[in-house]
Amino acid sequence: MQTSSAAKHDTFAEDVLKGLSSTPKSLSSKYFYDAEGSRLFRRIMELPEYYLTRSEFEIFRTQAADIHAAFTEKSARFDLLELGAGDGTKTALLIEHFLARKADFAYAPIDISAAAVATLTEKFHAEFPDLRIAARTGDYFRILETLKTDHSHPKIILFLGSNIGNFPRDEAIGFFRRLRAVMNPDDLLFTGFDLRKDPRVVLAAYDDAAGVTAAFNLNLLRRINRELGADFDLENFSHFAAYDPLDGAARSYLISRADQSVRIETLGRSFHFRQWEPIFMEISQKYSPATIAEFAAASGFRVERNFFDRQRYFVDSLWKVV
Ligand code: AVJ
Repeated sequence: MQTSSAAKHDTFAEDVLKGLSSTPKSLSSKYFYDAEGSRLFRRIMELPEYYLTRSEFEIFRTQAADIHAAFTEKSARFDLLELGAGDGTKTALLIEHFLARKADFAYAPIDISAAAVATLTEKFHAEFPDLRIAARTGDYFRILETLKTDHSHPKIILFLGSNIGNFPRDEAIGFFRRLRAVMNPDDLLFTGFDLRKDPRVVLAAYDDAAGVTAAFNLNLLRRINRELGADFDLENFSHFAAYDPLDGAARSYLISRADQSVRIETLGRSFHFRQWEPIFMEISQKYSPATIAEFAAASGFRVERNFFDRQRYFVDSLWKVV
């Protein structure tokens, strides 16, 4: 999920300018994933407190046969398209099960980062020599639009890991609507949603004892220092996570520990932070099965089937177009 082109760089600078000029100040979590951020996220996935990945793994491990049956209801052969494939750890498990069942499918990881897609393709070629891989780099919707004319097999679009949780409600529905517009009648959408649960369990996942989530958040300041010539002093900001059981949103912030000014050379200006002023960094939305059904209905789908883990911490929801 890294960005490296010159055009992307401008967008990063513009977004940082917009975010730090707003009240309250904010930065976009979509910029977390530079090389170091991706490494820190892989560590987060291994944390004892971060239940999301393990819950989704359990679903894939224990229900692969049911998932495969649901994917092949219309046609034994299908194309598996994954949005934001990242390093593909989760998908590997699903693919392994599908291959073991002699499933007839091709895999197409789609990511904005050419580097991420190249690494993933190489890894999967080595791990699964029999897997047909057709990787794509670029904008999700543009790529799906070009694939729409191909009606040869149903396409199953994967958007795993509760990545959708980083979008506020309206943006999430907008995202699903745009996906709906580039899908054909027999295509399916398979999305991971993190569910509402004991607020303490959620909060701990974003406030781990080892401080990896704190480092993950602070790394964005380090990225701004490096790529935009800023002088953020990381010692002067601290990670704070909150979970609001009213709206099901986990939010993370970096709190300015002191009254301070930060210069960002590329933007040609400085930003002032009052003592204890927060920078809003990320929303990780938690859902109920009812909200998920509402989202589906609001964007032109219906829920075909939900795959839950045993604790009902997480769901992979399979949607049909209506
Ligand atoms: C990759 C968006 C699913 O929100 O749980 C993990 C990112 N942020 N810890 C999430 C994240 C802090 C993660 N997603």
